[in-house]
Amino acid sequence: MIQKKIEIYPDVSAIGDRLAEFLYKSTEQRISFVLSGGDTPRKIFNHLGKNHASLPWHNIDFFWGDERCVPPDHPESNYLMAKMHLFDTILPGSSNIHRIHGEDKPETEIPRYRKEIFEFVQLENQKPVFDVMMLGVGEDGHTASIFPDQLHLLYSENICELAIHPQTGRKRITLTGPVIKMAKNILFIATGKNKSDIISRIILNKEGSENLPACLISPENGQLFWLLDREASSDL
Ligand code: 6PG
Repeated sequence: MIQKKIEIYPDVSAIGDRLAEFLYKSTEQRISFVLSGGDTPRKIFNHLGKNHASLPWHNIDFFWGDERCVPPDHPESNYLMAKMHLFDTILPGSSNIHRIHGEDKPETEIPRYRKEIFEFVQLENQKPVFDVMMLGVGEDGHTASIFPDQLHLLYSENICELAIHPQTGRKRITLTGPVIKMAKNILFIATGKNKSDIISRIILNKEGSENLPACLISPENGQLFWLLDREASSDL
């Protein structure tokens, strides 16, 4: 049984400090760090930018677990969110940023992003192994852009695939289950009372959780962390 390391913090700032501690320990050498979109990650990025500018950010290659198929200046862009709330403060080199080109056609961007991953990320048995994989979790149990109605994305041997948001219909490009599971450190981050139900269903393996994408992500060889605030963990 994979050990989930569940850590509960008073608030999102404390989670940000925990993530920074993780990155400090990891960045003695160059690492690959996969960012997530969403409100919780946005708050985390804000905190990191304001309180951890001294982190060796130059030693980090930034990737995304998913991106909406929109231009990089579009309000829905996960890259734009990271730029506004983190990169504009820590000013990483442009060569450290490996964004998904949401502005391009998925059929050309998916192979391009795959190629960039293989070029910059450590490979083990010809498979990319990201060092730190940051993931949010939706109230429906989705993670990255792997939604409950698209579970095939959990098992695809393609590094990344096209996903469709079930409510908005927005096309997205997402990393798939196998490459997420290969990461050395998988960090789910969730905050707020609105996540308490889904968190308890996933962590306590409640009935029906077996079909929730976030419940089906367990590391092949790495570690799995759940970094939660008090509200999100209030039903545990
Ligand atoms: C996205 C994210 C998505 C997000 C969760 C949680 O692009 O929206 O990749 O998986 O992390 O929906 O988002 P919140 O923190 O906003 O609830």
